[in-house]
Amino acid sequence: MKNIAGNAYLNKFDDQILADSVSIREVLKISDTPFMIFLENRIRENIRNFCNTFKSIFSNFESYYSFKANYLPEICRIIQSEGIGAELVGLPELNLALSLGFPSDKIIVGGPYLPDNLIDKSINKDVREIIVYNLNDLNRINEFARKYDKVQNICLRIKSTKFASKLGISSSLTKINILKDLLKKNKNIKLKTILSHYSTQMNNFEQYSENIMNIIHFYEVLQKHNIDIENINLGGGFPEASIMHKERLKIIAQNIKSILEQHDINYKKVYAEPGRYFVGDSGLFITHILKKTSERWIYINIGNHICPKFARCSLRFYNGSRINDPHKFKTSIAGIIPTDQDVLVKDYFFTKELKEGDFVMVTNVGAYCLTFSNRFPYSLPNIFLIKGENIQKIFDQEIQGDFFINSSKIY
Ligand SMILES: Cc1ncc(COP(=O)(O)O)c(C=O)c1O
Repeated sequence: MKNIAGNAYLNKFDDQILADSVSIREVLKISDTPFMIFLENRIRENIRNFCNTFKSIFSNFESYYSFKANYLPEICRIIQSEGIGAELVGLPELNLALSLGFPSDKIIVGGPYLPDNLIDKSINKDVREIIVYNLNDLNRINEFARKYDKVQNICLRIKSTKFASKLGISSSLTKINILKDLLKKNKNIKLKTILSHYSTQMNNFEQYSENIMNIIHFYEVLQKHNIDIENINLGGGFPEASIMHKERLKIIAQNIKSILEQHDINYKKVYAEPGRYFVGDSGLFITHILKKTSERWIYINIGNHICPKFARCSLRFYNGSRINDPHKFKTSIAGIIPTDQDVLVKDYFFTKELKEGDFVMVTNVGAYCLTFSNRFPYSLPNIFLIKGENIQKIFDQEIQGDFFINSSKIY
């Protein structure tokens, strides 16, 4: 067996591709393309690698899965069963997390948009922290907490140093003075944590280093103003696990720790909010070549409506019908949206022979593809969850209609 795309649960065996222990050809017998496959065991492996690595460096480390990366209930349930917390941006996700049994002290909720009903339910259900991007929201949270006679823990999202970053709170004197006043005035909130999320697909250490330096700078500014912080939240931004190997992840964690030590930062807990690292390489699209041109363009039956550029996935393409052929001939791949802009990749190394009807496997599509997909009027793909030899259909448009979170449903 030979490994494909750096994923232990994706292998070549003779002329077959095995997704865990299931041949993709078997799935092709039960579903038309395009369809999606998620590999449960890969998600579990990614979670364990991530958590074991960080826990080997930090004595008090916790991770909160960023639901927006992939909020399919079956995926979130796997993550919950591994004891991971939830990082949520909206009410549909909060309802989902609660109905899946995430304990409220393992839920953190927040973002740039905190509607009243989200604040109300978060406090009512005792979530661990509400993450605030705008200082104005502190008054509103205080009012809801007062209504329930509770003190709500707060995490501040601080503005990252990345060029043109707009999200979060800056460490300007004006903002810090406003914060100080708000914390003094509002007795039903308590600032516990600061969060800095630098970027997505962070591949070099400088980005992690910038991020932790940003946290340290803010921490020190707050300290000067006698505002104590208990915990630091590193955010997410880790690439797919098959792109960032365990060893590299460990070096990153070690470097973060040593920068914190150099600056003598005291913290109780370190949090991270990975999304893509847990689920990115657990997802595959299986598609077909619909058409080829003499210039080595192929058209496959997905496109940017379901596999959007916005998702920033590290896409890899394989000719599943000729998996043993060398993939070293430049080929461009276009999707099915009727516009010339629907290009998935240009000059990608692919098989020499290209036949209409060949099936194409696209890897690393487990994070953000469904989230950022749009309603271009094509049918939605079936989605299967594979674990060992088991295949479970977890989404069928005929039955479920859409894969958006159904708030009224108990999972
Ligand atoms: C605040 C915050 N945390 C976590 C994440 C998850 O990021 P990723 O999936 O890249 O790990 C994001 C993504 O945008 C984010 O904005």
